[in-house]
Amino acid sequence: MSDSPLITPEAVDAAVAEALDAVAAAADTAALKAARAAHQAEGSPLAKLNASLRQVAPEQKAGFGKLVGQARGRVSQAFVAREAELAAAETAAKLESERVDITALGSRRRVGARNPLTLVQDEVADLFVGMGWEIAEGPELEHEWFNFDALNFDVDHPARQMQDTFFVDPVDRHLVMRTHTSPVQMRSMLTREVPIYILCPGRVYRTDEFDSTHLPVFTQYEGLVVDKGITMANLKGTLDHVARELFGADAKTRFRTNYFPFTEPSAELDLWHPTFPGGARWIEVGGCGMVNPNVLRAGGIDPEVYSGFAFGMGIERTLMLRSGVEDMRDMAEGDVRFSEQFGMVV
Ligand code: DAH
Repeated sequence: MSDSPLITPEAVDAAVAEALDAVAAAADTAALKAARAAHQAEGSPLAKLNASLRQVAPEQKAGFGKLVGQARGRVSQAFVAREAELAAAETAAKLESERVDITALGSRRRVGARNPLTLVQDEVADLFVGMGWEIAEGPELEHEWFNFDALNFDVDHPARQMQDTFFVDPVDRHLVMRTHTSPVQMRSMLTREVPIYILCPGRVYRTDEFDSTHLPVFTQYEGLVVDKGITMANLKGTLDHVARELFGADAKTRFRTNYFPFTEPSAELDLWHPTFPGGARWIEVGGCGMVNPNVLRAGGIDPEVYSGFAFGMGIERTLMLRSGVEDMRDMAEGDVRFSEQFGMVV
């Protein structure tokens, strides 16, 4: 056949050399596969030389047969060896790329901490729930009627002025950001049956500066009791108990006369702080009083049958006094390093 090359030792050596070069040059199993197709498989120079054996004269067949057979054997061995070598290298590379350092430090998610205002709020709430009171809530975006009118504020009461209250557009809808938690008093009277014993912790808003002693958004807790035969002695006893629970056995409270539209009589509430850093002393902590009959009436309750007391205090101030936090902004900013100092109580 005309396309069969002539077998010569040189032609065989050349084919072997090319094949071995290709084997050595194959850098991965894919390249080796291509080299095999070109130098070992059907149609490769060696395969063609092998096919030429048919044309060789009978007396030369044994010699050439051996020559070509050995050449193919060498090439085949080179392929097998290179294949094993590449497979081992590839496995090693894969293992290396998937190596896991079991001694490496894990990356831990920081758990965070609850804001101390929340912790105090929960503690105070627990204290009242422990006395059988219920927790009440109301909206922070409140109607002016609940925030002021129902609480007996005159239309020209200074607290209604623009400099204290965030009025919400459009003004003729009479919506405000509640300036205190007291509107929840009225909401509770209108939605609950007497007797009422409720505590309402929550956020309130005033157009105050943001400085070390003022926050435009702060937190209060409001208490309201309406029942038969409630007197100021009940108010005093309750607040003394709360003072002792929060500030230790030597704590107590004192009333100073004051005016609030929604209570009559009204009192400024002072706390005797037995462990105050500069020495034990009286500190003003909130307001309180007997629920004004006008307020009871607005809440649909007969003041001839029922009486009640109410009080309001600030959580930020409670926290400042209990934990010695000096700058209120720390409570508002939400830096976890601040919160973490109060422990991980959940
Ligand atoms: N709402 C008042 C304030 O924010 C605090 C207050 C005073 C609440 C007397 C009361 C109260 O319930 O009886 O300044």
